[in-house]
Amino acid sequence: MLTGVPLAGAERRLVSAPVPPLAVTVIGLALTAGWLLLAVTPEAALTVTGGPGPGLAALHLLTLGVLGMAVVLVVPQILPVVTMVPAPALPVLMPVHLGVAGGAVTLVTGFLSGDSLWMAAGATTVAGGLGLFCLLWARLLWQARHSGMGDLLLANSLALLCLLLIAALGVSLSLDYRTGFLSDSPLEHGALVWAHAILAVHGLMGLLVMGYSTVLIPMLAVAEPQGRRANRPLILLYAAGVLTAAFSAVISADVIGWLGWATALLAVGLFLRGMLTVLKRRLRRSLGPSFWLIRLSWGLWAAGLLAGAGARIGWLSPELAGALLLPGWLLTLLLGILQRIIPFLASMHSVRCCARPAPLPRFENRRQTAALSLAHAGAVLLLTAGIALSSPLLIRGAAGMGLLSGLLLLFFAAGVFTRLLSHRRAVGPRRPRPAPSSPAL
Ligand code: HEM
Repeated sequence: MLTGVPLAGAERRLVSAPVPPLAVTVIGLALTAGWLLLAVTPEAALTVTGGPGPGLAALHLLTLGVLGMAVVLVVPQILPVVTMVPAPALPVLMPVHLGVAGGAVTLVTGFLSGDSLWMAAGATTVAGGLGLFCLLWARLLWQARHSGMGDLLLANSLALLCLLLIAALGVSLSLDYRTGFLSDSPLEHGALVWAHAILAVHGLMGLLVMGYSTVLIPMLAVAEPQGRRANRPLILLYAAGVLTAAFSAVISADVIGWLGWATALLAVGLFLRGMLTVLKRRLRRSLGPSFWLIRLSWGLWAAGLLAGAGARIGWLSPELAGALLLPGWLLTLLLGILQRIIPFLASMHSVRCCARPAPLPRFENRRQTAALSLAHAGAVLLLTAGIALSSPLLIRGAAGMGLLSGLLLLFFAAGVFTRLLSHRRAVGPRRPRPAPSSPAL
């Protein structure tokens, strides 16, 4: 089990077949819609921190419609496969996906229209879906407690804690636009926005990146993984740094904030050094377009953290730091991983639903993934340049490239799906095993 992932019998630990195509479709549509919104209102990328408007709407199309949906797809699928516990059933997963997707659309409509009722309704619906998700996530982690996957379980548990805080803060901030209740409280709206943003981008997403990279990077590069608890001190150090920074934002204590930021930066630096060492020891030499994006995302993670410091002292706009961290680091990594996970899941489902499994290369398409990767990298480059130079023209150019990347992701996923269906038509469905005949009495 070179890569550390127990694939034998993994087809028995897959989420129901409709879940991945539905989730990937929502991710592709939200990505395309987010870039389209930016193409129509390029100035929005320069005013994200200004409260409700197209900027905040585009931001939450990305953070909830793309990243949030990816979290509720990846966690219930990869965690059971890696820790060898059963995957959650469809009736449990569907309300989660509907709550997050439906709530995100409502919340984004509220941000776009400035209508506080839509914001409040959307926020509570998303939080409802995420709350249910946290319950099934906690159950999965409890079932997997003896799997030995120390780093993965630790990162998941801390990320779960962050998600609960993000949803609570997100709902409070949205309700504050409706009721203004924060103005009577000692907590300041702006301070809670920062705490929400830090916990979401660095807490939830950062910890998930650390936890799942320890499993997915060796698996995708065919490399010897690090020890299952090798990153424990770094994950704890990173979490301590992020939680300290978020807390300092709530109480507006700068020095503590810098301490938190420096701790998180150190942990990320050491973690990425470990990832580079894993890649050096890999068996698969040519890694393809997915690792163009994965490696680029590592650089953008470090650049985004440094730009965050620049924004804190007023040298850079928070929008520039946000662009390096969200469409930059997180979306780049997600598109790098998704272009490998989608064919992988299709080949696993072919084991479960076809008379004869289809080999993984049948679902891979290097030309499409190369085009997707280049379109996305171009979008990130133009977006950061456009924000740095306050140029709506460059931002519109970025949105055009981003739009192309969203459509290419949908096209790629549709191609994989139709190839799975045509393989099943060609070889026929998997016949249920005949029940063992009971011995003649
Ligand atoms: C329950 C889900 C969520 C709700 C209800 C929600 C709601 C909100 C609200 C109301 C704001 C404040 C806007 C303002 O007053 O300026 C905000 C800001 C923000 N949210 Fe969320 N959010 C949610 C989830 C997320 C997630 C999952 C992420 C990232 C992964 C995220 C990233 C951000 C960021 C970066 C900001 C800061 C924008 C700024 O600087 O003004 N949010 N969110």
